[in-house]
Amino acid sequence: MKTSRVSGFYKKTLTERLNFVKDFAELTEEETNQLNSNLNQETAEKMLENVIGTFSLPIGVAVNFLINNKDYIIPMVLEEPSVIAAASNAAKIARESGGFTTSSDEPVMIGQIHVMGARELGGEGARKIVEMKQELLNLANSQDPTLVNFGGGAKDLEVKEFSNFLRIHLYVNCQDAMGANAVNTMVEAIAPKITEAIGGTAVLKIISNLADRRLARAECTFKKELLGEDTINLILKAYQIASEDPYRAVTHNKGIMNAISAICLATGNDWRAVEAGAHAFASCGRGAGAAGRRGSELPTTNYKPLTTYELTPEGDLKASIELPLAVATVGGSTKHPQAQVNLKILGVKSSKELAQVIAAAGLAQNFAALKAITTEGIQKGHMKLHERKSTQ
Ligand code: MEV
Repeated sequence: MKTSRVSGFYKKTLTERLNFVKDFAELTEEETNQLNSNLNQETAEKMLENVIGTFSLPIGVAVNFLINNKDYIIPMVLEEPSVIAAASNAAKIARESGGFTTSSDEPVMIGQIHVMGARELGGEGARKIVEMKQELLNLANSQDPTLVNFGGGAKDLEVKEFSNFLRIHLYVNCQDAMGANAVNTMVEAIAPKITEAIGGTAVLKIISNLADRRLARAECTFKKELLGEDTINLILKAYQIASEDPYRAVTHNKGIMNAISAICLATGNDWRAVEAGAHAFASCGRGAGAAGRRGSELPTTNYKPLTTYELTPEGDLKASIELPLAVATVGGSTKHPQAQVNLKILGVKSSKELAQVIAAAGLAQNFAALKAITTEGIQKGHMKLHERKSTQ
């Protein structure tokens, strides 16, 4: 049975670590070599304009992850020490009580059109657009027959009026792609039909990065025998502080994004979109009524932690996370040669599975940070790495 559980991984040499990952993910020689190869100039020039070089960062792997009873090794690209060690340690504790349980929504993105100066406001313009719904969905779907063939495409449309604007939300199932290209093409294609019918100007025709119809969730329980009651109580206090003090909530969420952005980078995903969506969701996604509101109402803002913590009746610590994760396993920069190898190491079969793994890693990271900062502090771990650096 293949396991990602490994002790003292950080003590192994780079070659030993690479061999472990190679065996785990059944990488070919070529794929293994790719992990230590720079992006070639030709590929770089295809990705970006005005290229003058390439920039590399370390790829590390978080080990010990058990998610929905499947073992994962999780590649992360980042410059900050301790993050990967902390996530691996949290995953080791979590697997003692069965690991992480995760779920995610269908990969639905929101395309927005904001019309200014429509002839009829006060519900009449909105009614006309709703009447044209099927025609607009067909036009949107004709822009991307491949996505439609794979079962995705524009599925629904909603209209809302505010401050003399009519806002149209087009809901597009993006399957395993992030979807920005598909969604932007669709909203640009249907906007003229809309203004033809109701007059005015389509000021904006663009995707929303508040992907709150594409949420991923993870939860797990940390056993009191492994943590001790004092640590559990301190973590619960840290969670309460983050819930009441936005200055702390931001740092709390930054720790979560340490893992999330690092996996996005490793897999060629748009980490700025994910960051923007996560922080917006932290401001207006949680709490009573949020689930019913998704994508339709205009939310009020109140910045909160992305994770929750509670005591179970047995005295263990239950942790959970929910956030938008618009991530892809196909298309865009996932074609980057190293992203391809990292996706193979992850062994994910869909964008939904990738989102769930990322949610679990974010939760592990947050738990590890809270455990460290409420007990021994984080500097001790940082210093260990500095010691290693100075003795090498
Ligand atoms: C540092 O990159 C992240 C932490 O500040 C997160 C936190 O305070 O929860 C340790």
